[in-house]
Amino acid sequence: MLTVGGLPEDRWQDFMELRLESLKREPTAFGSSYEEEQDLPEAEWRRRMGAMLFALDDGVPVGMISYSVSDRLKTKHVAHIYSVYVRPSARRRGAGTLLLKAALDKIRDHGGVVKVQLSVNPAMRAAVSLYERGGFVSRMRLEKELLVDGKYHDLLYMEKML
Ligand SMILES: CC(C)(COP(=O)(O)OP(=O)(O)OC[C@H]1O[C@@H](n2cnc3c(N)ncnc32)[C@H](O)[C@@H]1OP(=O)(O)O)[C@@H](O)C(=O)NCCC(=O)NCCS
Repeated sequence: MLTVGGLPEDRWQDFMELRLESLKREPTAFGSSYEEEQDLPEAEWRRRMGAMLFALDDGVPVGMISYSVSDRLKTKHVAHIYSVYVRPSARRRGAGTLLLKAALDKIRDHGGVVKVQLSVNPAMRAAVSLYERGGFVSRMRLEKELLVDGKYHDLLYMEKML
């Protein structure tokens, strides 16, 4: 059964494995890269875990999402979503939808947030469709934002008003 929730910090290696898999398998989906994260220390994985929600298939992490809410005076009404990934073998079973819903619920619980932003490579059709179904609207497309293996990729900036 698919559920969504946090994981205790002592399962940081599960998180590291899933995150490095995402960067390796889908290099054009993320601003970060496998090369930049493969040697991160344990303390950094433990620190990052606090902001992650995981899709668990009978307790095994198969997907994840991260969110943050700005703590700056003029932008603390704005939240961001990033690091969205579901393992290929677990896709099209609703994990992505559950993750997005859970992150939006957490953001709402935070209080005071008016809008949520994200950026996505428009070539990642499943991701764009997931966000559109979740109520995100495309606001702006910037060209050549990512350079991966010698090829440039655009980024689509999307937002959802809460
Ligand atoms: C985007 C992603 C998280 C979706 O995860 P998921 O668990 O498959 O999501 P769901 O099962 O909730 O929804 C899948 C929906 O995506 C859509 N979809 C799937 N593949 C698609 C495609 N190639 N083109 C268009 N829509 C597609 C469908 O609407 C599908 O719903 P359906 O199966 O009912 O038709 C997953 O595909 C993924 O990890 N992609 C690679 C990483 C990525 O792009 N991350 C986003 C970074 S911004």
